[in-house]
Amino acid sequence: MLNVTTIAGVRSRRRELWQRAQTVALVPTMGALHDGHLRLVDRAGELADEVWVSIFVNPTQFGPGEDFERYPRDLERDRELLATRGVALLFNPSTKEMYPRPGVTTVDLPELAGGMCGAFRPGHFQGVALVVTKLLAIAQPEVAVFGAKDWQQSAIIRRLVEDLNLPVRVEVVPTVREADGLAMSSRNAYLTSQERQAATVLQRALHAGEEAIRGGLIDGRAVERRIAATVAEEPLARLQYAAAVDPDTLQPLGTVTRRALLAVAVHVGATRLIDNLLLEVS
Ligand code: PAJ
Repeated sequence: MLNVTTIAGVRSRRRELWQRAQTVALVPTMGALHDGHLRLVDRAGELADEVWVSIFVNPTQFGPGEDFERYPRDLERDRELLATRGVALLFNPSTKEMYPRPGVTTVDLPELAGGMCGAFRPGHFQGVALVVTKLLAIAQPEVAVFGAKDWQQSAIIRRLVEDLNLPVRVEVVPTVREADGLAMSSRNAYLTSQERQAATVLQRALHAGEEAIRGGLIDGRAVERRIAATVAEEPLARLQYAAAVDPDTLQPLGTVTRRALLAVAVHVGATRLIDNLLLEVS
């Protein structure tokens, strides 16, 4: 596995592969890798000749008071995991390499970024959209792979790639879960054992929403209330939002008809967790 820290290094490897007519699938991450990330890596391996992974804890997507400083970092372990997974190139740039001077360009999709997580993390998706646009411009992969766990993020990336005509295929991989249903997340490492138990409430709440819809409830607000009521049953959990939205536009659904995305954000203790469920309603 090539370990690359400079943009020039990535570009030079990219030129070599073009000469050999070989394709690249890029998996952007912030490291502290778990099986969810590794599933993305495996999927990437099915879609291109080489899998490239980036590890960059992107400061522009963290708000003041968020966990940028204490975000879990374990580069040695990550490196080993990726090497044994057949990854060809790891791009691990410094902040200075990615942001040599304060940027003035923004990539903003207000209609998609304003609601759900965006309402509680101002600037977050602008930071994500900017860094992903930069990573795609740097690596110029044929395919970029993201997880459905961060649905709003993947919807924003799909849309910015479409709107900006970026020459890349966006692949979204289903959420990888622990045995009890908790979505894998680097932030799960923050949970105490009691909180880890309580965190299963996200799944229960989404399933309560699904059951309500399958039982005939079609009022989007009422579905959201059903999800919220289930979260309220868990004393260690505090709901941030429950949403029933169109999976592509992320606009709230007045009535749930065909496809719906149910999504929640919940604080369990001091840790903020998110999850979602895509529903096809017949
Ligand atoms: P990070 O949280 O490290 O996640 C990297 C990728 O892994 C994202 O596409 C995310 O959706 C996916 N992922 C995380 N947990 C998953 C799970 N349980 N199942 C499936 N996929 C999962 O998301 C980011 O980093 C950053 O915002 C980034 C896109 C790298 C931009 O900085």
